[in-house]
Parts: sequence; C-alpha cells; structure tokens
Amino acid sequence: MDNRPIGFFDSGLGGLTSVYELHKMLPEEKVIYYGDTARTPYGSKSPETIKKFATQIVDYLVSKDTKMIIIACNTVTSWALDSLRERYPDMPILGVIGPTVRKVVNDGCTKVGVLATKATVNSDVYGKSLKALDPDIEVHSLACPAIVPLIEEGFTDTEIMDLTVRHYMDDFVEKTDVHDLILGCTHYPLIAKHIRKHYPHIRLYSSSAEVIGEAAELLREKDMLAHDSDRQDRYYASDLSENFISMTDLLFAGTDFRVKLKSLDE
Ligand code: DGL
Repeated sequence: MDNRPIGFFDSGLGGLTSVYELHKMLPEEKVIYYGDTARTPYGSKSPETIKKFATQIVDYLVSKDTKMIIIACNTVTSWALDSLRERYPDMPILGVIGPTVRKVVNDGCTKVGVLATKATVNSDVYGKSLKALDPDIEVHSLACPAIVPLIEEGFTDTEIMDLTVRHYMDDFVEKTDVHDLILGCTHYPLIAKHIRKHYPHIRLYSSSAEVIGEAAELLREKDMLAHDSDRQDRYYASDLSENFISMTDLLFAGTDFRVKLKSLDE
C-alpha cells in the first residue's frame, strides 16, 4: 500500500479529463495536479520550450513526494517523455501515447485518424508508434490548433466549437475515411460530443482514459495502490483562470479538493 499522491500535469485543464478517469477507476488515489494555465497552449510551442516547462513542473511534482507521475498531455509526452524519464530514473513516469497506441492496435484497428496539437502531429510519435506495432496500419493525423485555446477560454459547449470541429474535420473525414479516431490531446474528450454528433460512425479512443488502465496495473503489480477514503486532492495552476476553477468544480463536484495558484517562473 502507498498513500502518497499521483502527480498529474498538463498545459491547462485538459489533463483533468485523465484525473476524472482515475477517480472512476481508483477512487482512493490521491492527486496533485498542475495546470500550466499561464503558458497554455503548449501545442504551438517549440520542443525546447515544451521540454523546459515540463521539466519545471515535474521537478515541482517530485518535490511533493509523489509516487508516480502521469503526463496528462500528449504534446509533452511526444517531446519530453524520454528526457523526463532520464532525469528521474527511479520515478514511474507514464505518458498518454503508449497506452493509447497499444489499445488501438490490440483492437485490430486498420485505418486510424489522430486528432492532436501541431507539436504532437509534427513529432509523428503516434504514426511511428502505431506502425512499430502494426506495420500495415494506415494512420492519418490532423492538427487542430484552435481547439485548445477555445476550450481554455470556455467555449466548449458552444456553436463556435461545433463550427471549429467541422472546419477541421469535414474534409479530413471525407478524404481519409477513417473508422477509428484517437483523441490525441487530453483536452479533446471535453468536445467528444461535438465529434460524435457530426461523425457518429467513427469510434473514438481517448488518450486521457487509456493511460489510467496501465497506471492501475503498474500500481497493483508494485503493491502501491492507495487505501485512503479521506483523500484530499490538490490542484495547482500557474494562472487561476475562472474556467480552470469551474471545470474542476464540474468534474469533481462532491469531492474534497483545493485549487491554488502556483507559479514556477524562475
Ligand atoms: N492537453 C494537451 C495535449 O494533450 C494540450 C496541449 C496544448 O496546450 O496545446 O496535447
């Protein structure tokens, strides 16, 4: 048994969708979450900047006596997973991409779309990882750079979001005829309903959810599951946007948590 918290982080509120999945599966696990709301979005930044920000956050989460780190961000996973693992070789650090890729290949998908940020698409980590496991798989990636800023600004349930989804996806779906689609950004489960509405025939895979199954397995294997019915979660953000707080309230209503401002600037 290990009641220390699991550290989660993302450029903003997207990674909360992963925490939501953790609470569903392992309700006694305690969480420390960092959302870098002051510097979001990461998806349009350079790999060097993404690595620098991610390292600052992981240093902070490690200093909080976490037992595991979940990089609840595809963009950071794409560019910084290896360097973070090198920096903390004794800390289990999980990215969101590997578990999603394994699930898609295990399900026998043959023609897969990947919706992600520009930085994730440029890294081609999804394409390479899917093809490493199944050389015959067809992969089509699409960068949707406007979606994360719209979500961070609170436009999730609006007509603007609906139009934005169609702006990116209509041609893509027609040209590629993908049957399965990876939501390769942890913000995107928040707009899954817009995608389902327009493309009901496409099966969706959530990178936010798949990582939690693998985290649970690892904790079980190492006898590190928590037993703490009084757990109190902590959420930190580099800028306390109203939207971050209301999304936290919405997803975790009824649980005991605090949201605090924490800047990591030197
Ligand atoms: N949730 C992050 C991801 O999974 C969003 C990145 C961004 O800030 O653009 O990629």
